[in-house]
Parts: sequence; C-alpha cells; structure tokens
Amino acid sequence: MPFKKITERSKDINPFHVMDILAQAKQLEQQGQDIIHMEVGEPDFDTPQPIIDAGIAALKSGKTHYTPALGLPDLREKIAAWYQTHYQVNISPNRIVITPGASGALLLVMGALLERDKKVLLADPGYPCNRNFARFVEGKAQSIAVDANSNFQLTAEHINQNWDEDTAMALVASPSNPTGTVLSADEIMSLSQAVNAKQGHLVVDEIYHGLTYDGIDTPTALSIDQNAFVINSFSKFFGMTGWRLGWLVVPEQYESVMDRLAQNLFLAAPTMAQYAALSAFDANTLAILEQRRQQFEQRRNSLFPALQALGLTLSASPQGAFYIYANCSGLLNETQPDSMALSKHWLQQAGVAVTPGNDFGHYQAEQYIRFAYTTNEQRLLEAVQRIQTLGL
Ligand SMILES: Cc1ncc(COP(=O)(O)O)c(C=O)c1O
Repeated sequence: MPFKKITERSKDINPFHVMDILAQAKQLEQQGQDIIHMEVGEPDFDTPQPIIDAGIAALKSGKTHYTPALGLPDLREKIAAWYQTHYQVNISPNRIVITPGASGALLLVMGALLERDKKVLLADPGYPCNRNFARFVEGKAQSIAVDANSNFQLTAEHINQNWDEDTAMALVASPSNPTGTVLSADEIMSLSQAVNAKQGHLVVDEIYHGLTYDGIDTPTALSIDQNAFVINSFSKFFGMTGWRLGWLVVPEQYESVMDRLAQNLFLAAPTMAQYAALSAFDANTLAILEQRRQQFEQRRNSLFPALQALGLTLSASPQGAFYIYANCSGLLNETQPDSMALSKHWLQQAGVAVTPGNDFGHYQAEQYIRFAYTTNEQRLLEAVQRIQTLGL
C-alpha cells in the first residue's frame, strides 16, 4: 500500500537517539555479550509488593471498569493527604487530576495552557518529550541553554530575558532529568515571582520527588505558589513505571477544563493501577521505598568519584533523581569526536550502554553523557572499570 500523508506535527517528533544505542545493545546481547545498562531511565526495582498485592486484589474483585475521568475519589484524597503529611501543604482533593503517567499530565497541561504558536520556556538540557508535547498542540518550545552556573536549572533572569508577548508558560523539573539537580525553595519562589509578574503559568514537574539525597527534602512548588501547576507520577519514586499512573495538581478554577480534556483524551487513567496506588502511601510501602532511596544514594556516592577518576568533568553532586550528567570533553578525540560516538564506542568495545547528551537538547549536547544509576553498585563500578580498561 502506498504511504499516505501524515501530519507535519508528527513528522517533527523524533525518536530518542538512545534507541539506536538500545537496538545495538540488544543485538550485542543476542550475540552473547554482557551489557551493563546505564541508559535506562527507570528504577531497576520492581513495584513494591504491597502495591502489587493491592493491584491483584482489585482485579480479582472486578475493578476492571472505568473510573471517573479525574480519577478515583479515594486516590485523590490519599494524594491530598500525602501533601498534608509529607509537605504540610493543604490541597483540596478536587484540585488533583489522576493521569496516565506524568506523560498524561504533561499532555493535559500543554493542551489547556499552550495556545497555537504560543511559547513554553524550557531548560536545555531537559526532558526531551516536553518540546514534543508543545509541538503536538501546535505551540512552540523555546529552549534556554543552562549550565553549571545555574545548576542546570532555569532562573528568574532566564525568565525575564526570554519572556515576550508570545510566551505563555515556563516548565521546570526538580529534581531534573538529565542532571539530577534540585531547585531550592528560594529558587522556586523567584521563578514563581518572575512568571507571575508576566501573568504566565509556572509548571513544575516533580516526578523525581522522593528521590533526593544528602538529607535534603525538596519542597513542592505548591508550598510556595498555589497557582503553580504541579506534575507528579507513581513511576519513579513509587516504582510503578509500567502501571502508567501519575497526577497533576491544578488551581481550583482549572478543574473543569482538565475534567473535559481528560474525558476526551483518555477517559480515565488505568483502573487497576489506581486501586494498586491506594497502597502506595501505606507505612510498609514507604519503608520499602526509603530503603531503595538509600540504595540510590549509595550508588550515586560510589559512581560520582569513579566517573571523575575516569576523566569526566562533573559539576556539583546531583542531589536527586538517578542520573549523573557528565561532561566528557576530556575523553573526546579524532576517532570519538562527540558524546554519541563515545557512547557507541563504549557500547561496542566495553558493553556499557549510556545516553548521549543530544537526547536532551542541543546546548553542549555533544560534550555530555547521562549515566543512570539504575543498576546495582557492583555493576556500576564494573562499568567504570571496563571503560577504564578501554583507555582513551
Ligand atoms: C522529567 C520527566 N517527566 C515526565 C516523565 C514521564 O514519566 P511517566 O509518564 O512514566 O510518569 C519522565 C520519564 O522519564 C521524566 O523524566
């Protein structure tokens, strides 16, 4: 059959570059080579057992039908209670929208707030799908180059310098993907003041909340700005990537637009996952998650100096998520002139899979590599050893 026309917007949406790496890694594995996976952006731990048990019980008792579009009332209440106990912030359950992952929340936010040809300000490097969501709703992503000077985060100065009459919103993530850096309460406050002064929307992606280290506990943007749109998910901290469940907190007056959009775009988030997530905030689940958080912290503590010893340049230790974004320019040469070539070299010659910077934007992308510490400490150190043995 001849290939029929597809939309311009879908042509503009590219696959991740890491897919190339993944495909090669699979091929090598099929040939019997042992690959250490540090490219994967999801916890290696399975979903905690109490959540799995609750999911199974829900299925067995026939919880297989649609829920309301905004989500199960009980789950919305549990999340509101979590904001109260964990962050001491009072959020009405009415403001909480249950979504198919943070991805569903991003689609709702962009769909509701970004008019055709209007702009969203984003950090480069940043989570790659954000600009594609903007494109999908016919808006524009304006990427702003960030580096170690601002801890790889947008600042109020970035907002003030880049905002114009076509800008509608700014989207930040804390902790961030790919850098793992965190915004302090003061930094969120100045971002909020800058965006509000422009009558714009501040969207804060808090998907890596819970995964923070060095004794810091990230504040939710809701404790600073009740008008912020906050995105979160059960994927990362709660270890539920495959269940496809997240949430969005909106200011009260946006509840009805989100309800209409959710009804039409996906009817509701997966029912089984919502029932399972009712157990996510139980004390026994939280105890398991805390143990895992400590393991991530231990992995980061070992990997960080090991990467430095390899000759990678690392800025301040990332305080969240499970990523280290490392400058590899000291390791580049004529045969491996950029991070993509170096990543492929490491994969082919050392069996170590990592993600090159060009998946996260353009700014200095060819000099950066993202290491995900989503495999155990011994394997992480073995990966470093293999690269070391390879030499330059
Ligand atoms: C910053 C960020 N936001 C959103 C997502 C989407 O996650 P999910 O749809 O699984 O909740 C991811 C996934 O890697 C992410 O890193």
